[in-house]
Amino acid sequence: MSGEFVELCEVGPRDGLQNEKRFVATADKLHYIDLLARAGFREIEATSFVSPKWVPQLADAEQVLPAAIAAHPGTLFSVLVPNEKGLERALACGARKVSVFTAASEGFARRNINATIAESIERFRPVIAGAHAAGATVRGYVSCVIACPYDGAIPPDAVRETCARLAELGVDELDLGDTIGAGHPDDIARMLDACAAVRPMRELVLHLHDTAGRAVECAERALALGVRRFDGSAGGIGGCPYAPGARGNIATEALVDLCGRCGYRTSIDRAALAEAAGFIAGVFAKSPRD
Ligand code: HMG
Ligand code: MG
Repeated sequence: MSGEFVELCEVGPRDGLQNEKRFVATADKLHYIDLLARAGFREIEATSFVSPKWVPQLADAEQVLPAAIAAHPGTLFSVLVPNEKGLERALACGARKVSVFTAASEGFARRNINATIAESIERFRPVIAGAHAAGATVRGYVSCVIACPYDGAIPPDAVRETCARLAELGVDELDLGDTIGAGHPDDIARMLDACAAVRPMRELVLHLHDTAGRAVECAERALALGVRRFDGSAGGIGGCPYAPGARGNIATEALVDLCGRCGYRTSIDRAALAEAAGFIAGVFAKSPRD
């Protein structure tokens, strides 16, 4: 039992809600965020400043972010920004951390952000510089670190390569997304090992989706390898509208339980987290998908 601290970032309000057919009312999003903040997350991914044509579910980002910051000034609310326009919108709303996002596979980059990987990196250059100039920190997401719904299996070298490009641009944090939840623990270990050549294992963030039901096993292997930062969504909601078949994120409750079983500490109040998960499940139950 190490008692070491593991940082859990809650991404339900962004990754969880972006994939829902229904539009969750702004007031419900804010109540969900409020419950999550009370559960003890130091960082919550609140929304996305992407094109509302691409992700209409998060078109109310201008309402969500300022209200969340005002209600919980001690919580870090990060947001996705795909380009300079997104950065401008996010900074105008008070963002202190933004996330750029690309992929280790060309097929997904094209479908998700309408760019090649190289084009996305060039697009991020002024975004990262602008964020830093404004005093904000930057997460760099790499999607499809194990497999891509369009290109198939992705070699660890391709993931390391995209990580290296983002690191050269100066991202503060690298986040590795198994977007379609395809990973086995051995695949995750090989991929992490490759990326640890770019940033130390304990600084990498692992972002698992639980499509095949192996996400907890993968997180356990990552913990054993020295990863100390994970994303999760309360209740395991989520997916990506541009990754067919992608299911929810690993449930944050499962991550809290795993950390507890393995002797790690988190900042999360498990009962308060369950209340947040119960609330958003209730919102979905009131407005069935079809
Ligand atoms: P595009 O169509 O090539 O962009 O999309 P464009 O620059 O040609 O602009 C088209 C229109 O969108 C224009 O409006 C722009 O003004 C507007 P029009 O002139 O037609 O009226 N626009 C914007 N509006 C508001 N905010 C903006 C913005 N940018 C352009 N920021 C673009 C390119 C990147 C914008 C688009 O592809 C996009 O928004 N993609 C985002 C898709 C997305 O959010 N996917 C889910 C998140 S990623 C994910 O889930 C994976 C992750 O969880 C990790 C993992 O699991 O692997 C992070
Ligand atoms: Mg995701």
